[in-house]
Amino acid sequence: MRDVHQPLLFETAWEVANKVGGIYTVIKTKAPITCQEYGNRYHLFGPLNHNTSDVEVEPVESTIPAIRESISALEREGIRILHGRWLIDGAPMVILFDMGSAAHKLDEWKGDLWKIAGIPSPPHDIETNDSIMLGYLVAWFLKEVLAHDLEHAIVAQFHEWQAGVGAILCHKWKIDVSTIFTTHATLLGRYLCAGNVDFYNNLKHFNVDEEAGKRGIYHRYCIERAAAHCVDVFTTVSNITAYEAEHLLKRRPDGVLPNGLNVVKFSATHEFQNLHAVAKEKINNFVRGHFHGHFNFDLDKTLYFFTAGRYEFRNKGIDMYIDGLARLNQRLKACNSPVTVVAFIIAPAKTHSFTVETLKGQALIKQLRDSIDEVSNRIGNRMFELLSRGEDIKVEELLEEQDQILLKRRALAVKRQALPPIVTHNMVSDTEDPVINQLRHHGLFNNDEDRVKVVFHPEFLNANNPVIGLDYEDFIRGTHLGVFPSYYEPWGYTPAECTVMGVPSITTNLSGFGCYMEDNIERPEDYGIYIVDRRLKAPDESIDQLASVMFDFCQKTRRQRINQRNRTERLSEILDWKRMGIEYMKARHCAIRRRNPDAFTSGDYFGYDADVGKLSRPTSIPGTPKHPGAKGDELDVDISTLSISSELPGVKSEDAIDEEFRPPIRLKMNSSLN
Ligand code: UDP
Ligand code: G6P
Ligand code: GLC
Repeated sequence: MRDVHQPLLFETAWEVANKVGGIYTVIKTKAPITCQEYGNRYHLFGPLNHNTSDVEVEPVESTIPAIRESISALEREGIRILHGRWLIDGAPMVILFDMGSAAHKLDEWKGDLWKIAGIPSPPHDIETNDSIMLGYLVAWFLKEVLAHDLEHAIVAQFHEWQAGVGAILCHKWKIDVSTIFTTHATLLGRYLCAGNVDFYNNLKHFNVDEEAGKRGIYHRYCIERAAAHCVDVFTTVSNITAYEAEHLLKRRPDGVLPNGLNVVKFSATHEFQNLHAVAKEKINNFVRGHFHGHFNFDLDKTLYFFTAGRYEFRNKGIDMYIDGLARLNQRLKACNSPVTVVAFIIAPAKTHSFTVETLKGQALIKQLRDSIDEVSNRIGNRMFELLSRGEDIKVEELLEEQDQILLKRRALAVKRQALPPIVTHNMVSDTEDPVINQLRHHGLFNNDEDRVKVVFHPEFLNANNPVIGLDYEDFIRGTHLGVFPSYYEPWGYTPAECTVMGVPSITTNLSGFGCYMEDNIERPEDYGIYIVDRRLKAPDESIDQLASVMFDFCQKTRRQRINQRNRTERLSEILDWKRMGIEYMKARHCAIRRRNPDAFTSGDYFGYDADVGKLSRPTSIPGTPKHPGAKGDELDVDISTLSISSELPGVKSEDAIDEEFRPPIRLKMNSSLN
């Protein structure tokens, strides 16, 4: 009998060493705790992306004979595989398949998938073709591992529909592995919400096959639904998505695996505040250049708001953000507020790179800065010469005529009639772009009298960017408020990332993260997590609520903002994988137990307290996720068996700045906690 207490763990996701969105963040940030628990028994499967693998992965030969032999077995059939160390914290081993090298098998596999599972696959859907190849390669590899390693049990976890075929094959081929399918959204949910559908009120009534068919995603939907039904344990990332999955995929998830982050605490609390000031100064520089000629506002009284994410206009609530900004603008103008808000929208769209105007703005302001530095240098030298000779300084003579002319030329160059642009790039389709159209609709054109200025940056940020030269993380640090009023958001890493960096954010009660915070913290707003109600309020009321939250934020003093950032940052403890990871352990435990019921005696909680001794958890927590009875329409999937004490451990009590208001973090003790 295989050892169920020291199993091998394989996780499969399209985003392994391949960044697309939040799933990459899940896998990457979770790696340290999973490696800590599984050591060299942990491997990740994914696609080989030649554009990024060089920087993401260091090729190494496996030290495990069964893995080496399995690689050789596939290689003998022409499959190219990169085995190596993913260069991230935890350094997990990855097994990346070159999809091109499996293309000769594609038709055979597509036919087989139809034969054994009745899942069709149209010819030109590249994403589906890739997911079929990934699934067959993973299942094949697992079969090889089982043949070469007779000692260990195996747990295989599959993330999202793109990895679903592997889960289906494990079941159909009767491969002896314990399986988990974790969906981070449902395909149909995402598509339906992106259209103009009253999603949440109709969840129970959609004709799922028909809706999937109408949207041309029936075959993908089949993969997702079959994967959910074929595995030992089916999970998702939040209660709200569990509810959705139950109705759209027709299987109630066994548990919820909320997303954590790899929280790195600074030794002194003021360190992250310093980082804010440094990063803010870089954003200030961008703003000076971007708004040149109309830079009539005081940066000391300017707040930076932003939203960022994949460009899903409605799902990510970018529409509501812009509507809210328009109202905020009116309200700030009406009360003659001295505050200016510069509101960023960062969402990649199709572009032809930066506009000349955007690049010119940065160049002009840099020239001005350089010229001033040169002139001040010359003035300094002159003063030094005079004083060292014991002569007097005549202030009016310090600035020579040629320098005066130079500075005048520079000053003239930064003047301009045209308003500062609302978008930094040339859009491929300017007239059809939803963000630009919504900004136009509200007349948000960066007029001088506007108190809300807008900058749409249709590309993800990175430090080599010539316009905003900051990595996304540093950019977040420099801002004051993240705004994420999502309509469809199974979890939503963006506000969570703000939280661990001590930046307050706005989320909604339709996002997994927002609901999690609402469920676990008594007054999230005290900690800089503002939750807009998009569930019970009409859209117009939600926009008003959003505008009010932003308006109230603008009334805060600097001191209040600093205090609030300290409180926000303290919340990072509850988002740490050291806590959240427990749910993954439970799911794995449950999968192994379901597949090997005879290998356990009751109360046998293997794996929970093994290597991760730091996680204190009461022994009374049940070993398998349970289903508490349904209460009306409430979302009732069990997630709340996390052990959270009412005071967070490790929170330093002394921080000079935060003396004024330091309530203990008030965590709601959910009744299902024990
Ligand atoms: N992100 C990024 N650069 C940006 C904006 C966002 O790398 O300029 C990342 C962000 O850090 C987050 C992910 O994109 O981890 C988005 O994940 P989320 O769960 O919010 O949404 P998803 O895209 O998965 O729906
Ligand atoms: C941090 C820095 C302070 C700075 C403040 C600005 O706390 O440590 O030196 O004054 O940020 O805060 P603000 O909210 O105005 O950007
Ligand atoms: C999905 C969801 C997002 C979630 C992420 C990671 O892409 O859209 O809300 O945070 O997966 O679970």
